[in-house]
Amino acid sequence: MNNNNFTWGVSSSAYQVEGGWDADGKGPSIWDNFSHVPGNIKNGDTGDIACDSYNKVEEDVYLLRALGVKNYRFSLSWSRIFPSGRNNSINSHGIDYYNRLIDGLVANNITPIVTLYHWDLPQALQDIGGWESSTLIDLFDSFADFCFQTFGDRVKFWITFNEPQVIAWAGYGAGTLPPNVNDPGSAPYRVAHILLKAHARVYHTYDDKYRASQGGVIALCPNIDWVEPKTPSDPRDIEAADRYLQFLVGWFTHPIFKNGDYPEVMKWKVGNRSELQNLPSSRLPVFTAEERDYIRGTADVFCFNSYTSKIVTHSTTRLRPFSYEYDQEVLTKVDSSWPSSAITGHRAVAWGLRRLLNWIKEEYGNPPIYIIENGVGIKTKSDVDDNTRIFYYKTYIDEALKAYKLDGVNLRGYNAWSFMDSFEWLNGYDPRFGLHQVDFDNPNRPRTPKRSAVYYAEIIRNNGIPLAHLCVSIHALLRTEIVFHRVLQGNMVFA
Ligand code: NOJ
Repeated sequence: MNNNNFTWGVSSSAYQVEGGWDADGKGPSIWDNFSHVPGNIKNGDTGDIACDSYNKVEEDVYLLRALGVKNYRFSLSWSRIFPSGRNNSINSHGIDYYNRLIDGLVANNITPIVTLYHWDLPQALQDIGGWESSTLIDLFDSFADFCFQTFGDRVKFWITFNEPQVIAWAGYGAGTLPPNVNDPGSAPYRVAHILLKAHARVYHTYDDKYRASQGGVIALCPNIDWVEPKTPSDPRDIEAADRYLQFLVGWFTHPIFKNGDYPEVMKWKVGNRSELQNLPSSRLPVFTAEERDYIRGTADVFCFNSYTSKIVTHSTTRLRPFSYEYDQEVLTKVDSSWPSSAITGHRAVAWGLRRLLNWIKEEYGNPPIYIIENGVGIKTKSDVDDNTRIFYYKTYIDEALKAYKLDGVNLRGYNAWSFMDSFEWLNGYDPRFGLHQVDFDNPNRPRTPKRSAVYYAEIIRNNGIPLAHLCVSIHALLRTEIVFHRVLQGNMVFA
């Protein structure tokens, strides 16, 4: 690859790595409270300490530097900065922490990519209705405004929401993730409506107050699974596959990248089904012309997370109970020959990523694209020798680069999930996604680079898949081990 602007990085998120859940004045988030209820998380795990990244800025930055990443995507814990969620309670210790992290990155030429919301809503804001309440639009805007003002001199890449579909559906529809609202037919649509308005609001704040002086970019980051029609010669399956993507991704990106409004097929399906359900109006809310204008064009780049692919077929679904899931009139399956992983539904299907990138290119007019998360979870305590993960990265990155080099997809960056093993939500610490292993039984939470870290470092150094990666890896492995040993001994000077 000869494009030196291509950015390679790794990702993490606040609740999953920071720990320090109530340190130095941090307020509780919905995830703190949820994980504290016995039975909610596998093995009774919590994010109370997690990887202790709150106390390990130097180590983390050092490991990132050893990896050679050009950027690091992390998220800000809203309640660490505003303990009550509002700008009348500012926690200077939280700000210090993020300043140290950002300064450490910048000093090492690592570009921070910062997500403002990765699911850990301040509990105080859940108490007033969470994302079902439109007051959150103002409150999120004032949090974002503060972050731009405080960190925007050094942070030039912002993401408003991580996986908005998961927030709306898992949080307010299926109710599997906090705040565990179980209202599958209507709350997800209302929440998504508010998320889109909040996103647009924050985008405009950046545009109006900060862009001229700070010159960064801002986007949101949907989760996307590629879907393949079950019978490619059956137009109903092809339509079903497109419909699946529109409900999953277009829900957020059609308004932003196209015309300020939801995809036609969503308006049609939800509207039509609401009528059949004898409802007075569609369960999908409607934007005013003014709102459409306000939302259209509110992303500078196209970010997304992707882990897997599925097979989709058309299905005649039931009308009751009302559900976003049934509204799609699709059935998803997986191919049993696709390698499974620790996460149900996540199978390694590398070629799906190339198709997905091409779909984004065609659907949205080839915007600049960043893969923000991609990786594989493996269920094992110790997987330093993680050849399965190397295979996953090798094949996925290869497909991403085919899309870039051969298909002309405007891909600008790739980020591996994850920088290190971390709190994997409902699954606790069992599935491991890290390029670095973390020993969660040791109070010091030592990190050890896995073989995949060495491999990824080589990809970064080569700006693509190394041809003779086997022999180079040995040197890199040795180098990383020496460095790591010195970190452990505490005799490393951090630049
Ligand atoms: C996407 C989420 O953004 C991240 O928090 C999670 O750990 C990964 N998926 C893996 O499941």
